[in-house]
Amino acid sequence: MKIGDVQLENNLLLAPLAGFTDVGFRRLAASFGAGLTCTEMVSAKGLVKNPKAAKPLLAVSEEEKTVAVQIFGAEPEYMYRAAKHEFLERFDVIDINAGCPVAKVVGNGEGSALLKDPIRLSEVVAATVEGAGKRPVTVKMRLGFSGGDFCADKNAEIVEKAGAKAVTVHGRTRSQFYSGEANYELIAEVKKAVNIPVVANGDVTDKKSLKRCLEITGADAVAIGRGALGRPWIFAELMDKEPIFDLETLILQHIEDLRSIYGDYVAANEMKKHVCCYLKGRRGVSALKNKFMTLKNVEEEIEAVKAVFGEGAL
Ligand SMILES: Cc1cc2nc3c(=O)[nH]c(=O)nc-3n(C[C@H](O)[C@H](O)[C@H](O)COP(=O)(O)O)c2cc1C
Repeated sequence: MKIGDVQLENNLLLAPLAGFTDVGFRRLAASFGAGLTCTEMVSAKGLVKNPKAAKPLLAVSEEEKTVAVQIFGAEPEYMYRAAKHEFLERFDVIDINAGCPVAKVVGNGEGSALLKDPIRLSEVVAATVEGAGKRPVTVKMRLGFSGGDFCADKNAEIVEKAGAKAVTVHGRTRSQFYSGEANYELIAEVKKAVNIPVVANGDVTDKKSLKRCLEITGADAVAIGRGALGRPWIFAELMDKEPIFDLETLILQHIEDLRSIYGDYVAANEMKKHVCCYLKGRRGVSALKNKFMTLKNVEEEIEAVKAVFGEGAL
């Protein structure tokens, strides 16, 4: 699939996940073959006003051949300035968040609130396109805002007209948050409405769900979020490749990546949820999870991980 002039190696993309798609996790997803990785959502206004605070979220690894940054905001001027920002130069694609359901974000007219305001949505996309220069801009949206209010087809037409080069559709409305099932039939309606590539998103966790999603939506690609948590090797599996890795080494590499970007304290906190995901389903893991939550620094976490995989452990 091509996004503007950017050729992707395959059509299995990593969806943005706040608090999870950090540089360490994206490195792993890319090394297991994700066709495009994406940062978590970054506030356009925050980036412009306090770039230093946003910088760790914008780190990129060597493994990420094609990488997107996701920005959010409702003010065209800040979207323009963020897209132009030097910290975004390394990114191949700039994605706009029009799907975040969180009340604070919606209250500011950002994220999924843009779905209710097509004029604002169009202005936000046009300003981002202008700031992005030659790089393609994409939009990630939900089916609509309230339950039963399907407007992703119209909104996709609007963002296409405003210059977006692809649209990702999460098959739920804002009011659904993450409940129920993703509606692939409605994503198919979006696919019919526009000429730019459509990326389907929601509930793809294995080969069976991937096949079903692609068949029903007719989408050009699929973005995988929760299905990749704790198992970034899902991208290899979905491409029928045997993922070769050692889980202990993988976790330790992730820890080191975060330590080098965030420093000891933040890295230790960020890794806790990842480690719980990596070890999910293993025998005796709930006691370990509880223990992990009490650890205060990276060194303690490294020791705990080594103990898990050590002789006679789980
Ligand atoms: C913990 C978490 C964080 C998320 N953060 C973002 C985000 O930063 N930007 C975004 O567009 N979507 C975000 N999403 C939504 C996902 O990208 C995706 O649309 C949703 O989880 C459905 O796909 P999935 O079933 O493959 O997870 C987040 C979802 C979760 C569960």
